[in-house]
Amino acid sequence: MNISEVCLITFSPTGTSRKIGEAIVEGTGVSSVNVVDLTTVAAADRMEVAPQTLTVITVPVYAGHVAPLAIDRMQRLRSAGSPAVLVVVYGNRAYEKALVELEAVMKAHGFRIIAGATFVGEHSYSNADFPIAAGRPDEADLAFARDFGSKIRTKISETKGQWPTVVDFARIARPHQPLMPLLRFVYKVIMLRYSGSPLPLTPEVDVERCSHCGHCAALCPAGAIERGNESRTDRDKCIKCCACVKGCPSRARVYDTPFGALLSKYFSKRKEPRVIL
Ligand SMILES: Cc1cc2nc3c(=O)[nH]c(=O)nc-3n(C[C@H](O)[C@H](O)[C@H](O)COP(=O)(O)O)c2cc1C
Repeated sequence: MNISEVCLITFSPTGTSRKIGEAIVEGTGVSSVNVVDLTTVAAADRMEVAPQTLTVITVPVYAGHVAPLAIDRMQRLRSAGSPAVLVVVYGNRAYEKALVELEAVMKAHGFRIIAGATFVGEHSYSNADFPIAAGRPDEADLAFARDFGSKIRTKISETKGQWPTVVDFARIARPHQPLMPLLRFVYKVIMLRYSGSPLPLTPEVDVERCSHCGHCAALCPAGAIERGNESRTDRDKCIKCCACVKGCPSRARVYDTPFGALLSKYFSKRKEPRVIL
């Protein structure tokens, strides 16, 4: 079979999902590429993907699920059986049901799923004191992503007739997770929840540092920050994605969650990307 175009669809507040998607697309070697960034598209019309277009979709994992705002924004996608590659990106803890969840949504919208992958991206809560998968995707991840893209291209060129689908996404190899750190993490999370100490609902702003440049408001995918009133974050809208924290040129924004330290301590062992096709 032939494909005429690749459509990269991504939701990526801190940029790791988009980076991985771009490397996969590069690996396919297809020169005609259309990027649909759902991070910045709040509301838009229905989008029909053409039959000869390959869709690569990359989204982050939030609490073991596909980020809910990404799911919302995917509602506009439609296809009449065009091939799609599904990728979830997680912060070195776990992706749980996210990949099968993404599969269900994309199938329901008419896509034919031909491959899938799980990649690791620097955790949104990672910082200099508590690094979590810092710097991921790194060169090795991106080389792996390009190689995955090239394998997808081979699968496509070898296809005759109907697109072959992935048989069972639940069978994708899971990364090795050492047991003791996992149990310690779960114990600490339970203690934290029972302690009743309040968890931050939004990033905090150092008003001395904030220059009101409006960068955070432009980056926020949820519209939780108002231009001109950057020191206030709407807690009902904030999805804690940390786009504003990582993108603030004055380092005026901090999301100081106790989960950051726990994730850094108990999920320090590197997990590798996995693919199924
Ligand atoms: C609210 C929230 C929840 C998250 N939950 C998980 C999780 O359950 N497991 C995990 O490994 N990483 C989790 N992460 C980390 C992100 O999946 C990871 O940093 C991802 O690379 C972010 O993608 P982006 O750079 O495209 O925004 C979470 C991040 C946020 C902001």
